[in-house]
Amino acid sequence: MNASLASQREIAKQPEPSPAVARFLKRGPRLLIGGEWVESKSKQLVSVIDPATGREIATVADADQADVDRAVVAARAAFEKGPWPEMTPAQREVLLWRLSDLIEKNADELSELESVNNGKTKFMASIIDVPGTRNYFRYMAGWATKITGDTISTSIGGIPGAKFHTYTSREPVGVCAQIVPWNFPLAMAAWKLAPALAAGCTCILKPAEQTPLTALRLGELIIEAGFPPGVVNILTGLGETAGAALVAHPGVDKIAFTGSTSVGKLINKSATDTLKRVSLELGGKSPVVIFPDADVNAAIGGASNAIFFNHGQVCCAGSRLYAHRSVFDQVVEGISGAARSIKLGPGLDPQTQMGPLVSKEQQDRVLGYIESGRKQGASVMTGGGAPSNPGYYVEPTVLVNVKPEMRVVREEIFGPVLVAQRFDDINEIAAMANDTEYGLSASVWSKDLSTVHRIVPKIRAGTVWVNCHNFVDPNMPFGGFKQSGFGREHGRSAIELYTEIKSVCMAI
Ligand code: NAI
Ligand code: MG
Repeated sequence: MNASLASQREIAKQPEPSPAVARFLKRGPRLLIGGEWVESKSKQLVSVIDPATGREIATVADADQADVDRAVVAARAAFEKGPWPEMTPAQREVLLWRLSDLIEKNADELSELESVNNGKTKFMASIIDVPGTRNYFRYMAGWATKITGDTISTSIGGIPGAKFHTYTSREPVGVCAQIVPWNFPLAMAAWKLAPALAAGCTCILKPAEQTPLTALRLGELIIEAGFPPGVVNILTGLGETAGAALVAHPGVDKIAFTGSTSVGKLINKSATDTLKRVSLELGGKSPVVIFPDADVNAAIGGASNAIFFNHGQVCCAGSRLYAHRSVFDQVVEGISGAARSIKLGPGLDPQTQMGPLVSKEQQDRVLGYIESGRKQGASVMTGGGAPSNPGYYVEPTVLVNVKPEMRVVREEIFGPVLVAQRFDDINEIAAMANDTEYGLSASVWSKDLSTVHRIVPKIRAGTVWVNCHNFVDPNMPFGGFKQSGFGREHGRSAIELYTEIKSVCMAI
């Protein structure tokens, strides 16, 4: 590591895991296929690392083509025959509620597992990820009984006296392959599984290779809740093998993916061969715009959370700050002060406020971006380094003197790194905010209604927050404009992603 990147921060030792988590870590590699825990045909393993120590804590299977074939057969059989297609929507609702209750009952263990696997603190997992997952299944449980079609008036002519009764129904799209990333492993699994199951689909979930543990625990809870065999299958493994095989498989009807824009493009191309339905929630480089009349203290707190929440490993992280010249220095000082006060440490230490990044690869990537910023002339207001301890830590970092063409301004860093720019003319700020290939989200900070309502329609992003950032809700559509993907998760839109419309036209 470059010496100029060293950090003086002290990092505590990761406490030992609880007996329940220690037992889970010893369960050994297995895949959930057709309601059974089975060995992978590949016999290949993927190492699971605690990012706070860099040590292996478990191994999981690297599913290959043969495992994908088996999972698709199981998911197809469960979709077409047996108890699942015969169930009423209310019965699906009951199963989803049972699962949410089991998540609540096992919340402590799930929070700890998420922490040792992802690096986030157990505390954050226990107040955000795990209750969010529980609530997501509950919200989508309600949708199972609320899926409707329309009756349609037609004007079909040509046959004297003929009459038609015409209606639409929404039917489950079929076998869904759902590929999720490592930043919110359990919650991302819920965002994918819950609407698909509410709609009556069957699923093959592939967690990220870095963070498979809570998905495997969720698989156990899915069996305990009583979902019929094959309705949810879970394949651990690498993106290039298990993920790519799922995307190419002719027996899969729909792909839902959250992850990098580059992989999203590959998936979209590969899915074209069989015209699978595709929804993509990809990267972002979301602007945070602070107007001169904003409540500056609230904006400082909000902008700090916008970039440092989950260590900046958030697709909608507020990673480009634009503060009006009249408040720029105060805002940047405030955010830098907040950054300096964040206590880095391992996720199981109750004193920790920010854990390590998920992997060595991610740490190297983020430090590489900071270095590229320096080389291109940016100045580090605070942070910029990594402690010398084991563990994949990166200091919360604020970069100033940045220019629109620098890589740190253009590319998604996916770490705790903010680039701060000032603006003079409020008529130019929408163009600055939109100066990106991404369009996932944005936030604007102002107390003036007219300013807010004039800027919001000009911002090309799927979510615009006003005087807040990073808030999501199961009922609020979420997804991207531009290269942040397509399709909207949550709410009615998510149900639409997992259903096909059938028109029924009946001569009467
Ligand atoms: P990635 O896009 O490679 O991985 C996300 C998921 O896709 C994982 O489950 C992975 O196994 C799978 N995958 C990878 N290659 C695949 C393929 N060819 N076919 C099918 N599935 C495949 O993301 P990665 O490499 O972990 O992170 C790289 C960058 O991506 C991050 O630095 C960040 O910028 C961005 N990212 C964005 C996320 C978001 O929430 N929008 C989440 C994770 C990463
Ligand atoms: Mg990748």
